[in-house]
Amino acid sequence: MQGNPSILNMAPLELGAVAAMIAIIGGGICGLGIGWRLAQSGAKVTVYDRGEAGMEATWAAAGMLAPHVEAEHGEEELLPLALESRDMWKGFARELHSETNIDVDYREEGTLVVGLDRDDVEHLEHRSAYFESLELDVEWLSGYEARKREPHLARAIGGAIYSPLDHQVDNRKVAEALKAAFLNTGGKLKEHTEVTEVVTSNGKVAAVKIAEETVAVEAVVLAAGAWSRNLAGLPEISRPPVRPLKGQMIAIQMDPENPLIENVIWGPGNGVVPSIYLAPKSDGRLIVGATVEEMGFDTGLTAGGVMELLRLAWDVLPGIYDLPLVESWAGLRPASRDDAPILGPTKTPGLVLATGHHRNGILLAPLTAQAISDYITTGEISSSIQPFLLDRFESSVAATA
Ligand code: GLY
Repeated sequence: MQGNPSILNMAPLELGAVAAMIAIIGGGICGLGIGWRLAQSGAKVTVYDRGEAGMEATWAAAGMLAPHVEAEHGEEELLPLALESRDMWKGFARELHSETNIDVDYREEGTLVVGLDRDDVEHLEHRSAYFESLELDVEWLSGYEARKREPHLARAIGGAIYSPLDHQVDNRKVAEALKAAFLNTGGKLKEHTEVTEVVTSNGKVAAVKIAEETVAVEAVVLAAGAWSRNLAGLPEISRPPVRPLKGQMIAIQMDPENPLIENVIWGPGNGVVPSIYLAPKSDGRLIVGATVEEMGFDTGLTAGGVMELLRLAWDVLPGIYDLPLVESWAGLRPASRDDAPILGPTKTPGLVLATGHHRNGILLAPLTAQAISDYITTGEISSSIQPFLLDRFESSVAATA
């Protein structure tokens, strides 16, 4: 993935000279995070959300910050970005807390990936060797050692990988805190306000259309998640190839004083749930996910999806059987063609992308916020995001995502 010089040499947006107006389309964790950073730097910024901010993929997520256990063969270029953002998370959570007094439940117990039968354990041994080849800090545990760490795990657990640095937050609290921080810092938030079109003039971004109104802008940050590709007015050369990838999830209520687990647990999956995960929050909710389904914008729940989640979760943590099932939902991950985010400027001056975060939107939010805000205020593209510019899809940007 090489940066295109014509994009890399793009002039800064010269925000200092005038009170330039920046429109951010999408009030999810990335849109709000970028808005917050821009507002902190003195920019005049408005976040538009066609519904309520933070209520799509940000709300639907599990809040896992897991660059180690989610590392995949073939995605090695993503790892440094994920690690850099992971390292920013604790400070980001602390800053949000001091700005808003909202505790986003940053938890550092770590993550356990467990195997049940012999095949699972062999597969985990390969994963463990792969993680070690990447020099990630992971530890192999026997089934006995895994159950010592988490006594409610199934007796059948045959082995596990413990990843102490894969942490988590409560993503819904993060959205609430970011919204408050953005507003406190002088940002404008327009909810239930759909940007229907980006208007360009002489090939540059000039305005956004909202119903009958046209608002002049210096720059547009497109952070509309799974909807980023469909916006009217985007020049084809700058249209991000992002598609929705459905995830069904459920929440089970544990006793917050006596939770079944404290670490995030991953376990074996099947076709529709590639790996089951269970993320315990401090209010006692146990978030269980997720299916991975190519279903367009459908967000319906299916009996089969929920059944697989329950069955796979019960296999690793049988104690959930008697607990209340309190919530079920489906969210849409914004997936790109190579499962990596699409960040930074485009060949349309003034159009900046922050989308395509796939399974990693919560993890990558602090870095996305900083790097996109830095680009807009200085014109510099940080080396961290250069491999993730849109131009890596150069020959096929307008093709089917
Ligand atoms: N990062 C978890 C998921 O996308 O399901």
